[in-house]
Amino acid sequence: MSKQNNQILKNTNAKILDEFNASVMFDKELYAQDIKGSIAHSQMLFEQGILSKEDKEAIHKGLLQVKQEIESGEFEFKIEHEDIHMAVESRLTEIVGEAGKRLHTARSRNDQVATDFRLYVQDKNISIKQQIKELINTFVDVASKHTTTLIPGMTHLQHAQPINFGYHLLAYANMFKRDYERFESSYERNNFSPLGSAALAGTPHDINRDSTCSQLGFYSPTTHAMDTVSDRDFALEILFNISTAVMHISRISEELVTWSSYEFQFVRMSDEYATTSSIMPQKKNPDVPELLRGKTGRVYGNLISLFTVMKGLPLAYNKDTQEDKEGVFDSVKTIEVSLAILNEVIKTMIVNKDKMYNACKIGHLSATDLADYLVQKQNMPFRTAYYITKDVVATANELNKDISELTIEEIRKSNEQIANIDEEILNYLDLEASMNARNSFGGTSTKQTNLQIEVLKNWLESK
Ligand code: ARG
Repeated sequence: MSKQNNQILKNTNAKILDEFNASVMFDKELYAQDIKGSIAHSQMLFEQGILSKEDKEAIHKGLLQVKQEIESGEFEFKIEHEDIHMAVESRLTEIVGEAGKRLHTARSRNDQVATDFRLYVQDKNISIKQQIKELINTFVDVASKHTTTLIPGMTHLQHAQPINFGYHLLAYANMFKRDYERFESSYERNNFSPLGSAALAGTPHDINRDSTCSQLGFYSPTTHAMDTVSDRDFALEILFNISTAVMHISRISEELVTWSSYEFQFVRMSDEYATTSSIMPQKKNPDVPELLRGKTGRVYGNLISLFTVMKGLPLAYNKDTQEDKEGVFDSVKTIEVSLAILNEVIKTMIVNKDKMYNACKIGHLSATDLADYLVQKQNMPFRTAYYITKDVVATANELNKDISELTIEEIRKSNEQIANIDEEILNYLDLEASMNARNSFGGTSTKQTNLQIEVLKNWLESK
């Protein structure tokens, strides 16, 4: 190989390596947290007599200018800077000179990145939680309009028992409530300040970790430097919390796809949230819930990816950890937009009560009510009642009717053990009555559903 070619190859390798090593093109997302952390750190150094007042003031002014340059788009991010921490520090030094070089006293990028990233995750624990609260609110709102709207409750995707549509939606409100609580408890568990852990073992400088901690809004400093710089549990937690929430988003999306199909037609997506086919002019496709469902794959991938990065790391900091960020940023952005969109989809969906009601008349949804009646009123063993009910279902099938549509004579003729059954049984087989009969705590009756709405409303108000 010629000397010249060799040189080109060397230069190319150097460039590839710089790019490989650098994180600035994605960790610039953390610029605000980085600057906030540096302001707190330099303030603490000043309070401790490690930094002069002039230097501290120059640093603060300079950092605010860097922030403004980044926000206005004039800041030029360069691969040579490697990461956001070096990018901010070198621009600061360009602006304020010598003072900028003193900022990194008693600090390492290891505790710096742990701080920045934790601040970011903590912000997101709060904002995502807020979005989830809005979504719960929407579910409760729509549910309260449908506490008497009958829909077949299903198991195995087969018609099982009549429930009300509000009750069905409240199942999701409860799932999202648990999600809310997960983000909340992750916030509580992780609200401790890494700053001052330094590289891995603390610092010989007379720092005050309480000062940076309270400036940054953490509860107290973390208690073990080596654990702190290598810990990414807080990032794994938010990835898990997001994964669970998008799993719930995916489940309701799956139902929306099913419900909006021709076979069901229980709901119609408002035109804004339905798309057309480029070839079939008659079509209205549920692309939006499909995408909400599809995003789940990537979000789970991000969780597994960070678990895998972390599993083999010796203490303390290792560069592998730089791989922690992109997945978190991606999952955060995915859930933010997913929650916003799902909220609108639920608010604007058009509910077809007639289709829901007619579907309730397929599959003898109130059959269990006959068995329950025989147990309650005639003290019959449940299994005996079960077989008698089977005979009544057979009669209904022969007559091409739903069990709720049989006459008292038709019922009586089905099995000799109920030849004299009281006419009041007809009230029990009525679909709405069947739904309202499930009045046990947590059940589907309109009364219980209203109670559940009350509980959720009180909870929402307390948050
Ligand atoms: N960009 C690095 C990261 O995200 C910052 C920490 C670098 N520390 C080091 N000692 N190389 O993890």
